[in-house]
Formats: sequence, structure tokens, C-alpha cells
Amino acid sequence: MQYLRSLVAAAVLVATVLGTPTPSPAGLTWTDDHESFSNERSLLPTHDTSLTKRQISPSTWSPPSNLVTPLQQVWDHEVQTYNMNFRNFGFDQLIDAKGSINICVRWESNTSVTAADRTAVEAAYKRSYEKWMQWLYKFDSFPFSAVNVKVVGWAVRSTGLLQGSTSGLDVYTTTDSDGIPQCAPACGRFFHQDNNYSQCPGGAARHYDHSLWLTDGFGGGAGGDWGQRIGREYFMSNLNTANIHILLHEMGHTYALDDFYDWTPSGVSGFIMKAGSASQITDFDGWMLRDWWRHLKTRYNLSSPPASTPASTPTSTRTSTTTVPTPGTGTAPLYGQCGGSGWTGPTTCAQGTCKAANEWYSQCVL
Ligand SMILES: *[C@@H]1O[C@H](CO)[C@@H](O)[C@H](O)[C@H]1NC(C)=O
Ligand SMILES: *[C@@H]1O[C@H](CO)[C@@H](O)[C@H](O)[C@H]1NC(C)=O
Ligand SMILES: *[C@@H]1O[C@H](CO)[C@@H](O)[C@H](O)[C@H]1NC(C)=O
Repeated sequence: MQYLRSLVAAAVLVATVLGTPTPSPAGLTWTDDHESFSNERSLLPTHDTSLTKRQISPSTWSPPSNLVTPLQQVWDHEVQTYNMNFRNFGFDQLIDAKGSINICVRWESNTSVTAADRTAVEAAYKRSYEKWMQWLYKFDSFPFSAVNVKVVGWAVRSTGLLQGSTSGLDVYTTTDSDGIPQCAPACGRFFHQDNNYSQCPGGAARHYDHSLWLTDGFGGGAGGDWGQRIGREYFMSNLNTANIHILLHEMGHTYALDDFYDWTPSGVSGFIMKAGSASQITDFDGWMLRDWWRHLKTRYNLSSPPASTPASTPTSTRTSTTTVPTPGTGTAPLYGQCGGSGWTGPTTCAQGTCKAANEWYSQCVL
């Protein structure tokens, strides 16, 4: 708890120095404590896939009429609260990287990780990212018809933690000033917003745009232009969960979507950016992302589209439905999922007790 408080304090500090992105990188950080996520309520009956698909299709700004007012409210609030000239939003990263996002994983844990685990981490991350990106494809001059997301590196306390072949990955044992594994700053976009990666051993091709920071015992999450930080146990035990909702929320922050702890826009109640009110990206979330794009795109010269069109990786639609049981014990770790409608994983907790947040999600909590 002490640690969490100090993190909140740091986040507030960081938020006050917005708008001075270089040379010493100031970031954009939102912190969400564990409690805030504990009340998700599913919106499934009105947000089935077919409905979402239908509503994603308009390629111009035409939100459903009931969302017009709340969307205007959140955008007005955003421009009053943040410096929108900030140049390291997820959109800026995406444009500079020509539609390919490179990720580096910070593994803040002493648990070893197999090659299969790493493959599953990348797949879960890509799938989550895609849930946001599908709101942008074909929408209002968005220049990419596919966004490639690739894990290019892992930062670990010791290389021995990475079992199996690490070929194709950059393995880092560098740390931040707190001694926590961090992928080399020389290769990180957060530290090089001028896109000058001349000091990165593999050059620009091996740079990373942001980090997925997985921390043992971390409840809640934090997100910003530097990436997303969530509990290692939570993420690893939810790799096959349809909506890894804390990750989805933190990814929203990378794209500058705000929190809603102190107010709620008119007429909307459950959505992923209001922590604890939804467990999946809703139409309101999607239209917020589109609204941000609509306003921010003017900073890119889209009439002259990015030189190279992104290689659209035809993601082989792997429809594997095998649930991977929690390795070893058959119990869910602290903050891992331990129940809920459709859950086939472990239902007993290695630590803490299994508490139902709603019909679809139960979690091991202290
Ligand atoms: C993790 O490993 C580091 C050394 O690599 C050690 O200093 C630390 O105490 C370990 N932490 C735990 C919880 O075992
Ligand atoms: C890139 O950075 C290196 C050193 O960090 C510097 O020497 C070089 O001039 C920079 N290149 C450009 C194009 O700014
Ligand atoms: C966009 O075009 C304008 C006018 O041609 C130019 O001044 C500006 O530098 C360009 N911006 C970018 C990001 O390319």
C-alpha cells in the first residue's frame, strides 16, 4: 500500500510536467488502484459482437445520437485538463512507426518464463491492442488498414529466467533508477521522441515504442505514453481471457483517454475507461478513441501518407480454445481470475480469497 501511494504521488508529479516531452522525457501517466477495478459489471446483453461490428462501420464522424453530448463533454474536459500539444500519444507513436508498434516487456519478477509463455504474452497483447485499433481502421483518414504489434524485447533480472530459445528477441538486463528491469533507454521511444535510435545496438529497426510492464503482486494498473503496467500474476493468469480488462483500460491511457474517478459524462454509465464499470471496450470507448483521432490527426500531414504502407500481417485466425491451466499448482495466484461464468481455470486461490466481482469475473484478493 505504501508503494502504491508513492506511485500515485509520482504520477501526479509527472502529470504536472506534461508538455515538455524532450529532451528529458516527461511522461503522461494515469494510475488506477486495485479497488477501482473491483466492480466491473458486464454490458454483454447490449454489446454483443454483431452490434459492435455494425457500429464500427461508419467511416466518418457519426456517433450514435445518445453519445454525442457525453463525447463533447469528455473532449472539452480533456483539452481543459491536458496539454494536447503533447507529442508522444499512442497516435504519434503509431504514425512515426508507420503502423507497426514494437513492444518491450519489463518482467519484474523472479519467476522463470518459457518460450511458450512468451508467445502467449505476445498473442494476448496483440489481441488486446487490436480491440482498440479496430475502431480506427477505415475511420476518417486513419492511414493504416492493419496495425502490427510485435514484442521485440524482454527485460529481466537475469537472462536465466528466459527459458528456451530467445532468438529474435532483444534481451535486456538493464534497470531503471529503482533497480527494476527496463529495456535499454537507448532503444526506447519514450527516451527518444526524435526517433534517433543511433545508440540502440540494433538501430531503429530494434527500437520499442512502449513497454508492457509486468510486476509481481501489483494490483490495479498504470498507463501512459510509456506503456502499461499491470500485475504479472493477473496478466499471466488471464492470457486466454476474452477481455483482459485492466490491460485494455491502461492501453486507453496510452492513447490519452482519461480516467473518470471524479465525474461521469451525461447518460453513459459503463465503459472501460471508467474503471470498474465495464469489462470490455464499449461503443462509448470506441467513439472516444475516434474523437481523439479526429482532433489530433490534423498534426500529421495525411495528404502525404506515411512513405511505406504497413505490411499487413494476415493474422492467422487461430481459434484455439484450449484453456491453459495455471502452471504447476492448479490454483489461481493473487489477483488472478478464480471464477466467473465460462471460466474453466483454477477456482481456488494460492493466496487470498476468491471474491466475485460480478457474474463473469471473480478474483483472488486479500
Ligand atoms: C529476486 O531476485 C533478486 C536477484 O536477482 C533478489 O535480490 C531478490 O531478493 C529476489 N526476490 C524474491 C522475491 O525472491
Ligand atoms: C542522433 O544521436 C546521436 C548521439 O546520440 C548524435 O550524435 C546524432 O547527431 C543524432 N542524429 C541526428 C540526425 O540528430
Ligand atoms: C506538414 O506540412 C507542412 C507544410 O508543408 C510542413 O511545414 C510541416 O513540417 C509538415 N509536418 C510534418 C509532420 O511533416
